[in-house]
Formats: sequence, C-alpha cells, structure tokens
Amino acid sequence: MIILKTIADTQKLLAHSKDNGKVIGFVPTMGALHQGHISLVEQAKKDADLVVVSIFVNPTQFNDPKDLEKYPITIDADTQKLIAAGVDVLFLPSVAEMYPTEASRLMDYDLGYIDTVLEAAARPGHFRGVALVVKKLLDIVQPHKLYMGQKDYQQLQVVRKLIADFELGTELIPCPIIREPDGLAMSSRNVRLTGEYRQVATELSQTLYKLKEDMAILPLTEAKLAAQKHLNSHPLIDVVYLETVNGHTLAPVNDVNQAPNIAALLAARVGGVHLLDNIILKP
Ligand code: PAJ
Repeated sequence: MIILKTIADTQKLLAHSKDNGKVIGFVPTMGALHQGHISLVEQAKKDADLVVVSIFVNPTQFNDPKDLEKYPITIDADTQKLIAAGVDVLFLPSVAEMYPTEASRLMDYDLGYIDTVLEAAARPGHFRGVALVVKKLLDIVQPHKLYMGQKDYQQLQVVRKLIADFELGTELIPCPIIREPDGLAMSSRNVRLTGEYRQVATELSQTLYKLKEDMAILPLTEAKLAAQKHLNSHPLIDVVYLETVNGHTLAPVNDVNQAPNIAALLAARVGGVHLLDNIILKP
C-alpha cells in the first residue's frame, strides 16, 4: 500500500493510473476503522482496479469542538487493517494540506432542505463541512466509483445531491450497514459506550426492527409513535429524532403510499454518545 500525504503526489499517481485505463474506487473515512469501513473497501475491491482510501478527521464537520477533541485516532491499527484488506493507496493529508487558508474552509454552496432537518437540525453546519471536504476529496481523487455507508443515511443523500449539483461524474455506491452481533450499528464512537450504556445502545436497532415488523400490521404513524414512545420511556436514552421519511428527499412521510421509498432515521444520545441508526422500510 502506498501512503501519500500531499494532494500533488496523489493527483500525480492517480492520473498515471487513469491513463492506464484503471477504474478507481474511493472510500473516504475519518479513521478509527472498523468492519463497517472495511466492508466498503471490500466492495470497492470487487468493482475497481485501484482502491483509494482517505483518512482525514475533518475539522469543518464538527459543530462541537469537544467531539473533535474526543475523536479516536488509531492510525497504526488503521494502516494495518487497510494493508490486510488490499488497499492500493492511502491518502493521509494534514489539516494544512486540505485547508491551507481560512478562505479554503468556507462553503457557500446551499444544500437546501436536507441541510435543515434531522441530523442537520441537531448539528448545525455539520453537512456543510461534510460537503466541503467530500467535494475537495473528489476533486483530488476523481474516482469512477465512490463507496459510502447507508449507516449515515442523510450524509449519503447530501453527497448524492453534491455529485448531481456539481456534475462530479462519479458513481455513488451505497453500502449496507454493518452491525455488531447484537444489532448495534458499528461506529467509531461505540468505543465511548462504557458499562451499561453499551447494552442499552442495542435498544436502538431493536426498536427499528420492531418498527419494521409493526408496519405490516399497523398504520405507519402508529408504528412510528409506538417506537418513539418505547425509546422515550427509557431512562438512559435521550432521543434526538426518530422519523419516517421519504428515502431521497428526507421529507416526513406518514403513510406508506406517500413516497416510493421510505426509511426510518434515528439519532439518540446514550451515555453522552451521539448514535445514529436507520432502517429501510420501503426499498
Ligand atoms: P466515517 O464516520 O469514518 O465513515 C466513513 C464511511 O464509513 C462512511 O461512508 C460511513 O457511512 C461508513 N460507515 C461507518 N460505519 C458503518 C457501518 N457500520 N456500516 C457501513 N458503513 C459504515 O462519514 C465519515 O467518516 C465522514 O463524514 C466523511 C464522509 C469521511 C467526510 O469527512
């Protein structure tokens, strides 16, 4: 695996590979890698000739500076995992490389409605930071295919819009959520779930599974209300949102016939850790 720290070196190497007709698959990450990230690499390995992974803890997407400070950094272990997974190129830029000036941190692109609801409402500015860094990374790597997890459902829709609005010409490949054996969606934040909170966190996925089952026998609003009531009654779970939405626009949906695709998106704080989960109710 080649490790590159500058934009210039990365562009040079990838331009050469593209000239040789190689299909480039790209997996952007913030490190602290787990099997969820590796599953994206595995998918990329199947489709692409050259797999590029980036690790960059992007400061502009952290609306809470304490969250940035606490973000786990495990670069040696990450490097070993990426070598074992057969990654060809690891792009590992510094903050100064990605944001050389104050102006380079600014984002005047308006994401519209999806940047006003759910996770965007809970973490103002978060998706503007995500869109800013993903746009920069795509400009550098110019991959044929981009692999992202459905775990971060709203982020996926933000990037879908970014690619369409800027005609970035990369194919977005959404990949399924990888879970722990007890159902907890894998996340770099899970290491911060200590003691009983780790067990409590399984309630999130269990509630979403139950919501999907209930949907077969109850109207959608009733199934959703039952799920909200269940989580709200738990003393150790602080629900940020649990909504049933149009799978593309993320507008609220209260009837199964109201949208072609429906997903239930959930965020909750468990032991002070912000956790996300979701389930596709109508594919
Ligand atoms: P990060 O949280 O490191 O996630 C990198 C990629 O891994 C994202 O596409 C995310 O959806 C995916 N992922 C995380 N957990 C997963 C799981 N359990 N199953 C499947 N995929 C999973 O998301 C980011 O970084 C950043 O916002 C980034 C896009 C890199 C921009 O900075």
